[in-house]
Amino acid sequence: MPVPTVAWHGGLDGRLEIIDQTLLPNEYRLITCDSVQATWDAIKQLKVRGAPAIGIAAAMGVVVGIRDVSPQAPEAQLFAKLHEAANHLATSRPTAVNLFWALDRMKAKAESLRGQGTAAIQAALLAEAKLIRDEDAAMCRAIGRNGARFVPDGGGVLTHCNAGGLATADYGTALAVLYTAAEQGKRFKVYADETRPLLQGARLTVWELMQSGLDVTLICDNMAAQVMKEGRVQMVVVGADRIAANGDAANKIGTYGVAILAREHGIPFYVAAPSSTFDLSIKGGDEIPIEERSDEEVTEGFGRRTAPVGCQVYSPAFDVTPAKYITGIITERGVIEKPNRMRVKAHFRK
Ligand code: MRU
Repeated sequence: MPVPTVAWHGGLDGRLEIIDQTLLPNEYRLITCDSVQATWDAIKQLKVRGAPAIGIAAAMGVVVGIRDVSPQAPEAQLFAKLHEAANHLATSRPTAVNLFWALDRMKAKAESLRGQGTAAIQAALLAEAKLIRDEDAAMCRAIGRNGARFVPDGGGVLTHCNAGGLATADYGTALAVLYTAAEQGKRFKVYADETRPLLQGARLTVWELMQSGLDVTLICDNMAAQVMKEGRVQMVVVGADRIAANGDAANKIGTYGVAILAREHGIPFYVAAPSSTFDLSIKGGDEIPIEERSDEEVTEGFGRRTAPVGCQVYSPAFDVTPAKYITGIITERGVIEKPNRMRVKAHFRK
């Protein structure tokens, strides 16, 4: 990325800046989120999107919400603002657990400093938001190192949606695996699913990979089966928005279908995600809340109506790939091969 997807410039009086991803690839524009509501809107409208980036933006949105409390004010005032901001941001999008993980971390940080005064807690919250960002960047690098060996030298890799630099603090999760393999000198072709209805694959993944000089080819989502049948793909790697304790993984709508196709064609299917994407409090994928988005994103997504006025639409934004279809989950700690409840547990006990 020329600049980070989500950035905080300066101290408490600084600003939260994001790349407006809804404008890509036609326009590269940085915007400032100068209120909690503006941050909420940016997350809801997918100006900032991708599970880790949503978490970072939410943590920084909390800072936006508490920074105007006078440093001399009683702590109660700060905590009221903190909870108001966190509760509101938590309603922006339901599926990516990184959002709730980051908000919980910010609240826990403040709680741990009760009694130290408003100014100290404000400073610590800004530091915590920046730490969440820095840790995410380090996790991307580690995921890349842990997954690069699975990339077929001289082969093809298919990915769905965007799990790259635009979705994280550094160069992604699924795409980190590809960037690292390329850095190691492997040569391979990437097939990027367009990812209906909001085209994160076409608009973001293809843009990002072209910027980086990787060999990327765009396909429509419904071409994946044919591309696999033609023997063009030897690995699938995708990101995740929430992974349950048994390894079931929610990701952008369409991922489940890709996993079934990969199984049918004997192609390994990998999920790459940091530990902040695991929700060990839930047993299986059925419990993962799936966001539903507006009809218009399907019927007139990019300004032109493509379905009859008044038609009924159902638009789940995510689906869950059962663990049985996943060859391995690549995290910053290593790889969970053939994930199941026991292996996920063992991975986090290490
Ligand atoms: O609706 P989006 O664009 O936020 O969905 C993003 C995805 O599904 C990504 O694959 C996922 O968040 C992983 S990003 C490292």
